[in-house]
Amino acid sequence: MAKQSGQRYSILAVDDNRNALEIIRRILGQSGYEVITCEGVPDAVNMLDEHRIDLVITDMKMPKHSGFEIIRYVSENFYDTAVIMITGYPSIESAVEAIKIGADDFLAKPYTDDELVSVVRQALERLTAQRAAQSTLELDASFGIVGNSKPMKKVFKLIAKAATMTANVLISGESGTGKELVARAIHYNSQRSSAPFVPVNCTAIPESLVESELFGHEKGAFTGANAARAGFFEVAAGGTLFLDEIGDASQSLQAKLLRVLQNKEIIKVGSSQVTKVDARIVAATNKDLLDLIKRKLFREDLYYRLDVIDIPIPPLRERSEDVPLLIQHITAQISDEMGGEPLSLSERAMNALTAYSWPGNVRELENLIQKLTVTVDNNSVDIVDLPETMRFSIDHKAGLSRSLAAVENEYIQNVLASVGGNKTQAAKILNIDRKTLREKLKRIAPEN
Ligand SMILES: Nc1ncnc2c1ncn2[C@@H]1O[C@H](COP(=O)(O)OP(=O)(O)OP(=O)(O)O)[C@@H](O)[C@H]1O
Ligand SMILES: [Mg+2]
Repeated sequence: MAKQSGQRYSILAVDDNRNALEIIRRILGQSGYEVITCEGVPDAVNMLDEHRIDLVITDMKMPKHSGFEIIRYVSENFYDTAVIMITGYPSIESAVEAIKIGADDFLAKPYTDDELVSVVRQALERLTAQRAAQSTLELDASFGIVGNSKPMKKVFKLIAKAATMTANVLISGESGTGKELVARAIHYNSQRSSAPFVPVNCTAIPESLVESELFGHEKGAFTGANAARAGFFEVAAGGTLFLDEIGDASQSLQAKLLRVLQNKEIIKVGSSQVTKVDARIVAATNKDLLDLIKRKLFREDLYYRLDVIDIPIPPLRERSEDVPLLIQHITAQISDEMGGEPLSLSERAMNALTAYSWPGNVRELENLIQKLTVTVDNNSVDIVDLPETMRFSIDHKAGLSRSLAAVENEYIQNVLASVGGNKTQAAKILNIDRKTLREKLKRIAPEN
């Protein structure tokens, strides 16, 4: 297969059992694939670091290490490498766990030659499709989602991956981090893009209407059902159902969703006809679902169904290098919409905003820029135009590795800048007398 198509894939097989490796090598060799073998996880890690590997086939249970370690290592370091897990202990939990942490497929022992060749072929086909999709997506300026930081690049890769698959997706992140934007990006870059993207806010469905909203109802199914109506699953057929705020779904909504995900079919209220469900599920939450599960507020079985592809979106304060880019993007967008020159920010204002902690994330940043557009004169923003809480932000990027004196210095400089260098006013804000301020400034820069 690989030889015929002229395409060379490099496949790495990992197992503590040499015989098992030889069997894999033989079976795949007959289909034209070349296989490199490693008898342990450390060797496999070295091999991955030093060679470009397209596909890893790993056993799950090995004496010193587990196949999970390989899956994790690959999914954290090589987005462009597929992994198949072979398990002699076929349990649905371990298979789900493997897929969750990044395996592309799994194969239960004992397997036939054909089964092995077939999972390998499918994994390589998906990889090729994913690569093709990714190369067009990369031209596409990251789906209109702004970010150049390492954590956002990881998000883009996950979007690209999710767009090529149909597995359910769970997007998590604080409020305003862009969860809905990511959900839309997945849908509009997937093969389902010409069918609808249907957003459903799980908190907005009245308890008594859960079933008819989700599954639809026939005319006369209940009092007030004057006409037949399609449910969300039906509307999203062929497309994507976006279950927003899933962490706030009521118990009955959770139970009904779980049943649909298990059975993949629905029955309209007032009907007896069973319909196959063909909606891809992307869910989002700003809650910590694992914590809700511990507190018995969220069903664990539903969580595992949803969280097949897991996309965590980091808060803005953990990717502050994206703040200037976002500001540029938002100001340009506003000037496009409303006409006029985009807002310009002084370097100090930009630095203060970059250092600010953004509890409301990108939405808070958008709101600020909108407000500034209306309030500032002559289109230019300086530090005094910013809300007080943002003016004196200390650069938190340096983390905990800074001395108290360094932080104090920066804070004093920020305050001073915010009052145009007026020491009397600065001393007032800092609640120290002018003499103390002078001494502190001398310490910072002796010529003062
Ligand atoms: N990386 C980004 N690039 C450009 N715009 C962004 C980005 N992230 C978020 N936004 C914008 O910020 C706003 C909030 O994003 P979104 O609604 O997707 O957040 P959310 O995570 O769904 O928030 P919530 O939990 O409050 O529903 C939107 O207007 C969105 O377009
Ligand atoms: Mg949202």
